This record gives sequence, structure tokens and C-alpha cells, in this order.
Amino acid sequence: MRLITSLDDVHSLTLDLRRRGTTVSFVPTMGALHEGHLSLVRRAKSEGGALVVSIFVNPTQFGPSEDYSRYPRDLERDCEALARFEPDAIFAPGPADMYPDGFDTHIEPGNVAAKFEGALRPGHFRGVATVVVKLLNLVAPDVAYFGQKDFQQAAVLRRMIDDFNIGTRLMICPTVREHDGLALSSRNAYLSTEDRLAAPVLYRSLNRARELFHAGETRADVLAAAMRTILEAAPRAKVDYAAVVRPDTLEPAAQAAAGCVALVASRVGPARLIDNLILGPPGAPDEELIELAFEAPATSGGHTRP
Ligand code: PAF
Repeated sequence: MRLITSLDDVHSLTLDLRRRGTTVSFVPTMGALHEGHLSLVRRAKSEGGALVVSIFVNPTQFGPSEDYSRYPRDLERDCEALARFEPDAIFAPGPADMYPDGFDTHIEPGNVAAKFEGALRPGHFRGVATVVVKLLNLVAPDVAYFGQKDFQQAAVLRRMIDDFNIGTRLMICPTVREHDGLALSSRNAYLSTEDRLAAPVLYRSLNRARELFHAGETRADVLAAAMRTILEAAPRAKVDYAAVVRPDTLEPAAQAAAGCVALVASRVGPARLIDNLILGPPGAPDEELIELAFEAPATSGGHTRP
């Protein structure tokens, strides 16, 4: 396992691997790794080929009053957590390597980034898209793995990969949850004991929408109102949004159908949490629901790596 900090070194490593006919799987992360990240790494590893994991807390996706400076960082612990997967490389560049003086070009995602997280965190998806393009150019992976938990991020990146004919296949993997349904997130570290007890309310609200959908309710506004009622009843929660939307554009769905996604975001104490569930047939496994939402796994617009 090589710890690489230099952009040139990671580029030459993966170029060399690809010249030798090895496929490259890539898991981009901001570190503070938990089982959610490790499920992506496990999945990437199981595909065979070479495995590269990046750890980079990307400053450009944080707003000025957000948690960039206190975002949890522990490279040594992350490397230990990754060791058992024997990645070919852990790529952990510094901010000045990724954004040297004079850096002046950004990717501006379109409508899919306009609402929800995009509206509440101006510039967030611009930062995500920009860093992901840089990482994909540096690592040039065949497949890149992202979690369903950041659903809008996945939709934005899918759109960008298609629009820019980037030769990387996007693989979206199911959200990993605690025993009480709370989606794993590095930001769960901010929750006090009381906040932690309250936090599963996001999942409970999503479950309610799913139950209603399974019972035949398809009016998206009714599903959204049911989620909001549950969230608002939780004493420590401050709701940002609850909605049922089309999975590709994130436009409101008047009538919810299989593949539509229920999205919620709420503050719980000091932490801002997001979660989602894809609606579909009762009992459908997560992988099937992800496929429903993203149709066939996303590929570049007709272009694959040579
Ligand atoms: O999902 C994340 O951890 C980040 O947004 C990503 C994709 C690594 C870009 O910084």
C-alpha cells in the first residue's frame, strides 16, 4: 500500500497500471472513514483490478461559515482502516497541490444542482464537481464509487460525467445505516448523546413516506408533508427540506413512481444531516432501487477509456 501525496506520482502509477492492462477502481473520499466508505472500498476491491482511494478534504465545497476547519481528519487512522483492503495507493494530496496559486477554473453544474443542497449550500456542488473532475483526470479510473447517501451529489456527478464524456463509469452503492436507521456520515461525530438519540428521525420520516407509497399513495406533496410532520415533531430537529423528486433532474414529481427519491435534510443539534430513500416495489433490494433511480449504471456519453 503506497501513500501518495504528489499529483504526478498518482498519475504515473495509474497510467502504468492501465498500460499493463489493469483496470483501475477509484473511491474518492474526504477521510474520517466509516463503514459507509469502507463498503465502497469493499465493493471496489471485489471487482478486481487495482484500487486507489483518495483522501482529500476539499476546501472548495465548503461555504465560508461551514465546517471545513473542524471537519474530522485522521490520516493515520484512515490508512489503518484501509490496510486490510490492500489498496494499490492511497492518494492524499494537500490543498496547495490541488489548488496551487493561480488556480482559476471551476465546473459549474446546472439545474440538477440548483435545489436542495445546492440552494442551501451555494457553491457546494461547484466545488464537488471541480474536485471530482480533477481527481478523475489524475487517477483516470475505469470505475468510481460513490454512496447513495449523497443522492444529489451522485445525480450531479452522473450528469457531469455524461455531459463531459468522461470515460469513467459511476457506481452508486447503498447507504450504510446504524442499527436504528441513522445513515453513517462523518458528520455524525458532531452529535451529542441527546442529538444522536434524536437523529434517526430522518430515517423514520423517510420510512413513513415509503410505507405510504407502498400503501398506494403517489401524491408527492402528501408524501413530503408526512415526512415533514414527523421531522417537525422531533424536538431537536430543524427541517431544511422534505421532498419527493425525480431521480435524474431532482425536479418535483407530481405523482411519485418507482425510482423517484424521497429526500430529507435537517439540523439535529450542531450537525446538518441528509438522507434519502428510493421508492420502489416493497422488499426490493437497495441495488435494484439504485438501478431504478439511475436506470442502467451511468456510463459516459458513448465514450469509454481506450
Ligand atoms: O462525498 C464526498 O466525500 C466528497 O464530496 C467527494 C466526492 C470525495 C468530493 O470531495
